[in-house]
Amino acid sequence: MKPVLEYAFYQYLGNISIIFWHFTLQWQRLGIHQYKPLLQGASLASPADIDISALEQKLATARIGRSLRFFPEIDSTNEEIRRNLSLPEGAVVIADHQTHGRGRQGRSWHSESGSGLYLSTLLKPDLPPEDLASLTLMAGIATISAIPQQTSAKLKWPNDILLNGKKIAGILCECIAEPGAHPAVIVGIGINLNHTRFPENIQDIATSLKLETGKDVDRTQLALSLLQNLDSEYEEFLQGKMDNLVRKWTEHSDMFGKTVTVSQKGKKQTGTAIGLNPQGKLILQTPDGKQHLLDSGELH
Ligand code: BTN
Repeated sequence: MKPVLEYAFYQYLGNISIIFWHFTLQWQRLGIHQYKPLLQGASLASPADIDISALEQKLATARIGRSLRFFPEIDSTNEEIRRNLSLPEGAVVIADHQTHGRGRQGRSWHSESGSGLYLSTLLKPDLPPEDLASLTLMAGIATISAIPQQTSAKLKWPNDILLNGKKIAGILCECIAEPGAHPAVIVGIGINLNHTRFPENIQDIATSLKLETGKDVDRTQLALSLLQNLDSEYEEFLQGKMDNLVRKWTEHSDMFGKTVTVSQKGKKQTGTAIGLNPQGKLILQTPDGKQHLLDSGELH
């Protein structure tokens, strides 16, 4: 990992950078982190780094990423947002490396340094919790649209992105609903970009853009596309354009019309994936002809 903060201070303060970097590490150990103002002007990151300064300069969004925090290392970007729910809507936390990246169903998310994109954003839609399930679809569309279009990446319900049958990205939406307050939704996105290998336990199911295309991915550019897409897709969600979300999601998936098995709360159901209803629930038709609406589960 390149110490981005060291570059930032080197640019302005000569060799004091190392002292600042050292302090930065100390502060991080104490749980105090360097935020955006100290990063402004940092632009000497290597191509493998995420260039936060360039990202901030190019970002033209209404909500997403107006407040942006970068961590060379953190436990989990979702967790960092959860600790800071008073951040404005659209606040984004990006990390180069997560020590405790979280996946769905209590799984961990492999988050090595210098390779992937790990980010979370905070949404505060003025809607009841039952209307929020389709935020996962919204995030899926934003993510797959940021992945170079010449790849044949596909959305897999509810929140995976597969490339050549292996997982390339995942989405973890966590909702925090407190009585009397608007629900806060943390949308966490992990994308495997420049990984050249994966740990043995996931190497048969995980892949990266680099492994599939042979090309390095510019993480700054990909982060920029992702944040811009999230901004526009979230706007459509807020305007209630569910038909658009469902149409786009369907266009990016190849699972409809196929036989699938869905596990939900220990129960397995096999049937044909018919499509998504306007609320983003999966319509599964079982061999007895009945149609079931599923709002969560694991698809096999
Ligand atoms: C899954 O497919 O299981 C969801 C994976 C989500 C991973 C991302 S990485 C950024 C954010 N922070 C986390 O701890 N998890 C999400």
